[in-house]
Amino acid sequence: MVDGKTKILGVIGDPIEHTFSPAMHNAGLDALNLNYIYLPFHVKPDRLKECIEGAKAIGIQGLNVTIPHKTNVMKHLDEIDQVASMIGAINTIQFIYDENNESSNQNNTFNVKTRGFNTDGYGCVRAIEEKTSINNKKVTITGAGGAARAVAFQIANSGIDELSILNRNAGKAESLANDLRTNLETIGIDIGINAYGMDDLKRELSDSDIFIDTTPIGMYPNVNDKPIANADMLHEDLVVNDIVYTPMETSLIKEALKANAEVVYGYKMLLYQGIRSFEIWLGREAPVDVMENALLDVLGI
Ligand SMILES: NC(=O)c1ccc[n+]([C@@H]2O[C@H](COP(=O)([O-])OP(=O)(O)OC[C@H]3O[C@@H](n4cnc5c(N)ncnc54)[C@H](OP(=O)(O)O)[C@@H]3O)[C@@H](O)[C@H]2O)c1
Repeated sequence: MVDGKTKILGVIGDPIEHTFSPAMHNAGLDALNLNYIYLPFHVKPDRLKECIEGAKAIGIQGLNVTIPHKTNVMKHLDEIDQVASMIGAINTIQFIYDENNESSNQNNTFNVKTRGFNTDGYGCVRAIEEKTSINNKKVTITGAGGAARAVAFQIANSGIDELSILNRNAGKAESLANDLRTNLETIGIDIGINAYGMDDLKRELSDSDIFIDTTPIGMYPNVNDKPIANADMLHEDLVVNDIVYTPMETSLIKEALKANAEVVYGYKMLLYQGIRSFEIWLGREAPVDVMENALLDVLGI
C-alpha cells in the first residue's frame, strides 16, 4: 500500500506505455516487502534536464532510462560508470541523497549525486552464463547498434578470446571494433569485422561457441524473418542468443532448436538488466524467480 513513506523508482522514455519494467520491479519490491513503487514516466527529449532536476527535488530513488534518452541523459548526470561511459549510453540512474550534509541542509535542500550505469550488457552476459562459461570462447555478434555496443563491451570484458562482429553497414561494425580496441587495449582479444552476409556469417559461426543476434530481425510483426538462411549454418556446440523477446520463440530460436544448439531467450537479457538495476538501487539481492514470473506474465508467455 502506498503511504507517506513510500519511495519512488521508475522508468523514463518516449514513448513509455509499452514498458514491461513496472510489472517486473513492482513484483520484486512486493516480494521483499519494501515500501517502494516503480512507475512509468513519459518524458519528451526537450524535458530531460528538467526531468533529472525534478527527480532530485522530489526524492526519486532510481530510474531506468529507455529509448530515446539513453545517451542524451548522460550529460545531466554527475558520474558515469566506466563501462557505461565506454558504451556511450546508460539505462540506469542511481540517486544518492546525503541527508546529513550540514552545508546543504542550511539551504533546506539535500545534497544529491546522480550516477549512470548500463546494465544491458550485464543482462545479456548473465543470461548466457546460465548456459555456458564465456571464458576463452569465440563470440559472433550480428548488428552494431545500441544493444550490440552494450553487449560487445560487456562480453569483451568477460574473458573471451575472439569476437566477430557482422553488420549490414560495415562501417558501423568497424567503428564499434575500433572503440573496443581503443578502450579495452590491454585485454588483447582478437576482434574481426565483416559486412553482414550469409557466406561470411556461416564461416564465422562454424568455429564460434556463442552467437548473439542483436538485430531486430524476427521481431513482431515480422516473425517469419530470420538473420540466418537456415539451421545448417548452426551447430550443436553453439549457444544461440536472440535478444529479440517478442515473440519469445523467434525464427532464429526455432532454427537453433532444429540444430540442437543451446538457446538463450531474449527476455532473459531484459530480466537480468532489471535485476542489476534493482540491486544497484536497493543494495540487496533481487528476487529473480518472482521478477522472472512477473515478466513472463506481462509478456504473455
Ligand atoms: N532483450 C533485451 O533486453 C533487449 C535490449 C535492447 C534491445 N533489444 C532488441 O534489440 C534489437 C536492436 O536494438 P538496438 O537498440 O540495438 O537497435 P539499433 O540501434 O537500431 O540497431 C539495430 C542494428 O540491427 C541492424 N539491422 C536492422 N535491421 C536489419 C536487417 N533487416 N538486416 C540486417 N541488419 C539489420 C542495424 O544495421 P545497420 O547499422 O546496417 O542499420 C543495426 O546494426 C531490437 O529488436 C530491440 O528490441 C532487446
